[in-house]
Parts: sequence; C-alpha cells; structure tokens
Amino acid sequence: MNSRRYNTILITGGAGFIGNHLTRHLVIKYPDSKIVNLDKLTYAGNLENLLDVEDRSNYHFERVCITDEVETQRVFQQHRPDLVIHLAAESHVDRSIVSPLEFVHTNTVGTANLLNQAKKLWQEDGFQDELFYHVSTDEVYGSLGPSGYLYEATKYDPRSPYSASNAAADHLVMAYYHTFQMPVIISNCSNNYGPYQFPEKLIPLIINNIRHQRPLPVYGDGSNVRDWLYVTDHVEAIDLAVHGGVIGETYNIGGHNEHKNLTIVETLCDQIDVKLNNPVGTSRKLITFVKDRLGHDQRYAIDAAKINSELGWSPSINLREGLSLTIDWYFENATWLQNITSGAYKEYYRKMYKVE
Ligand code: NAD
Ligand code: TYD
Repeated sequence: MNSRRYNTILITGGAGFIGNHLTRHLVIKYPDSKIVNLDKLTYAGNLENLLDVEDRSNYHFERVCITDEVETQRVFQQHRPDLVIHLAAESHVDRSIVSPLEFVHTNTVGTANLLNQAKKLWQEDGFQDELFYHVSTDEVYGSLGPSGYLYEATKYDPRSPYSASNAAADHLVMAYYHTFQMPVIISNCSNNYGPYQFPEKLIPLIINNIRHQRPLPVYGDGSNVRDWLYVTDHVEAIDLAVHGGVIGETYNIGGHNEHKNLTIVETLCDQIDVKLNNPVGTSRKLITFVKDRLGHDQRYAIDAAKINSELGWSPSINLREGLSLTIDWYFENATWLQNITSGAYKEYYRKMYKVE
C-alpha cells in the first residue's frame, strides 16, 4: 500500500467542496510534493475555502478552464504533473436539468481535454509512474429499487444530464486506458457532506434555512434515499487509491449510511433544536414538501467492499457525528456563508489577483 510517490499533483476543481478538502490534505501531508490547484472559479469555486493553506510554499493556484486547450497545455507543460486528480465539474443535478449543455461541455469535453493534455505530456516517457485519477459519482449507475447495492460491475445507467455527462467522462477515461495504455483510476462516490459545501445542496441548504427560520424544501414525499459520506472520509479514500489502487480499476466509495431525505432533514432539525435549546419539534414545523425534481433518482447505495478489502479503507465518521460537526461548522462560519449568499466571495479573488 502507498507504493506510488508523486512529485507534482495537479488537482482540478480544488476550490470546490471536495477539492478544497483534498487540496488541504495533500498540501499538509505531502510537503515535498508540489500541489497545483487548477480551477476556473465558477459560482461553486471559492478561494476563501483555502485561506489556511494558500501561503504554503508547495501550493500553487492556476485560474484556468478545463476546456481551454491552450491554457491547460501551458499548465501541463509548465508544472509537469505526474498525478492528475480530476474533480472540476458542474456538480448540481438541479442545474443540469436547466442547463444540460453546460454540463456536457465542462464534464465531458473538459475531461477529454485533460486526458489529451496528460497523454501529450506523459507519452514522451511511455507512461512511467503517472496517474490520471477521476473523482466520479455513484449517480452514473442510475437509480436502485428498494433493495440491492451499486457494485463496480453494475452497468452504467445515468438518468440526469449531470450523471450522463459524468458517465461519458468515465467512459473517456477508460477509453484512454484501453486505447493508449494511459494509467488511470476512477472512483465513484456517494453523496458527500461536511464543511465548505456550497449552500444549494441539501444539507447546507437545510442548515442555513433553519438558521434563518425559512421553509425547508423537501422534494416530492422525501422518500428518496441517498448514501451519505463525510467529506474527509472521501479524501482519505482518494489518498489511498492514488497511492495504492490498481491501474485501470474503478473503486466504489460510500458510507453505508442510507437514509431517506426526510429523515436527514428531520435529524438536522432535531440536532439544531438541541444545540439552540429550542423546544422539541420547533424546526420540523418549517418542513415544506415541494414539487419533485424531474427524473428524481429514487435510491443510491454503494457497496464499498472492494476498496475496503484491497486498500483497507472504511469510513471513520458516522452520520450523527458528521451532521453535528457540519452544523457546528456552518454556525461558526456564518461569514463564509454570508459572503456566498451576498456574492462577496468573488471579491477575494479580484483583490488577490487584481483581475475580473
Ligand atoms: P463543486 O461544484 O463543489 O466544485 C466544482 C469545482 O470545479 C469548483 O471549484 C468549480 O469552480 C470548478 N469548475 C467547474 N467548472 C470548471 C471548469 N470548466 N474549469 C475549471 N474548473 C471548473 O463539486 P464537488 O461537490 O466538490 O464535486 C467534485 C467532483 O466530485 C465532481 O465531479 C462531482 O461529480 C464528484 N462527486 C461529488 C459528490 C458530492 O456529493 N459532492 C459525490 C461524488 C462525486
Ligand atoms: P443534492 O444535495 O442536490 O444531491 P444529489 O442530487 O446529487 O443527490 O440532493 C440530495 C437529495 O435531496 C436529492 O434526493 C434531492 C433532495 N433535495 C431536496 O429534497 N430538497 C432540496 O432543496 C435539495 C437541494 C435536494
């Protein structure tokens, strides 16, 4: 385990939710490696997420779009990464229903461009010791019925423009492995939650709305099931997989934490009521059932036996503990949230880099 070593790690999407946790983890754990964060800073990218590591000498930031062939080529040639961990993506299912082409452009065309840039750089030395790692989603497998699990061998059956564009990206990654023998690994992870998640996703949205005593929108009847994983457990899994995973393989990552959306919302209500000394049931009164998401996948549940047996990974934070940590973080970081809702988080980049 932990057999491979890397000199320069290029993370795409490092200013996003999972990306900032991964960047922080790698910058601190591997001080002798150069960590380059390539991010376009869309609405979901926020450099305030990385304030605590941005001054470290092994951290570098590049504001580049993954679909920009010229600029991505410059970054690959200049920094010469031997590991690419690709997370840059449009990531919200609801947005993909409104703007599918944007998802195809970023997630599919962007991934193809990065694969091409990596191939151009790495084929010079015959693909020695390099790795292209795609951080993908369990949603590529489509929706489960009331029982059963998603395995690495489960047939892809994406249902939303988001999951279809990520599935296409996964297929391209595997195509580069089979056609060019480029070293690749994919992981397909379940729903993440934790600090720094953009507040339009379920868990931070509910925490923020409870805080402001606003309605808590639950799509449909709230019976849809997601398998929740605390974000730092995902980061640990990626660290293990990039160092010890088998080239050409995929790994499913999940928390064995399956819950109905309504249960998650009610748990957040109850935990927050206890933390704020509210009478029992106060926040649940805010729950509001709203129109269902189009094509709403009913259930995801990951079988993570492969990464557990091959790489020794298992989640360390259970749901109750993880939700409590997440609530505390959002309550203690009201300014971070306020800067997002007001749009002020984009100011930080403008001031820092003196550009629009
Ligand atoms: P996120 O939306 O929080 O962050 C995405 C990041 O990518 C942002 O920093 C954004 O600025 C950047 N980005 C977007 N388009 C770009 C472009 N064209 N060029 C360069 N940068 C661009 O997403 P996340 O939740 O951190 O997810 C990261 C990856 O992990 C995605 O591929 C997502 O599908 C996958 N994933 C997410 C979850 C989850 O629950 N959040 C679970 C499994 C897999
Ligand atoms: P989300 O956080 O958008 O992640 P994903 O769609 O990738 O699973 O949504 C999680 C679940 O919560 C999903 O089943 C949709 C549901 N949901 C709501 O019920 N209300 C909301 O306001 C949001 C954003 C999501």
